[in-house]
Amino acid sequence: MLMTDRERLAGEIKALAEKHGNCRTALIPIVQEIKQKYRKVDDFAMQVIADQLGIHPVEVYSVVSFYAFLGSAAHGKYIIRLCRTISCDMQGKERVMRQMENDLGIRFGETTADGKFSLEWANCMGMCDQGPAMLVNEKVYTHVTPEKVHEILEECRRSFGVHATEQKEVYLV
Ligand code: FES
Repeated sequence: MLMTDRERLAGEIKALAEKHGNCRTALIPIVQEIKQKYRKVDDFAMQVIADQLGIHPVEVYSVVSFYAFLGSAAHGKYIIRLCRTISCDMQGKERVMRQMENDLGIRFGETTADGKFSLEWANCMGMCDQGPAMLVNEKVYTHVTPEKVHEILEECRRSFGVHATEQKEVYLV
C-alpha cells in the first residue's frame, strides 16, 4: 500500500521529535524544519506535533504564528528575540532586557553599529513554563538570567573571534 502524504508527514514529524529529544524544547526546531521543507505548517502537522510532544495544539499554533511574524528586514548577524508575553514577563524578562541592552549598548529595536547584534521583542514562543525565553537566530534559550545573557553574548562573540574583555562585567538586578 502506498504511503499517503499525511502518513509521510507524520513519520517525518516523529523522526524530528526523536532527533530533537521528544519534549517541549523540540517544538521550535520541528516547526522550523517542517516550515523550511513545506513552506507552511498546516493544521494536521500542528496536531501531529502536539500529539508527539504531549502538548496542547494551541501551544504549537502559537509558535507557528510567531514564526509567521518574523520578518526579513535587514538585521544583525545575531538576532536576539526576547519574549515579552506575560509568563516571561513575570519570570524576569525585564532584568534580562536591561542586561542585554547594557552589554550591547543598544535598545530593543536597534542593531549594533558593527552589524553583529539586533535586539527584538517576540511574543509567546511556547516556552512559557521555562521563561524568560529567547531566541538567538534559530537557537532557543530558556530560564534566561542576566548572568546567562553574559555567557550567551560571549558565545556569539567568540564565533566572531572578538575578545571577551570587550564586554562589560556588569549584571543588572
Ligand atoms: S510567555 Fe514567553 S514563551 Fe510563552
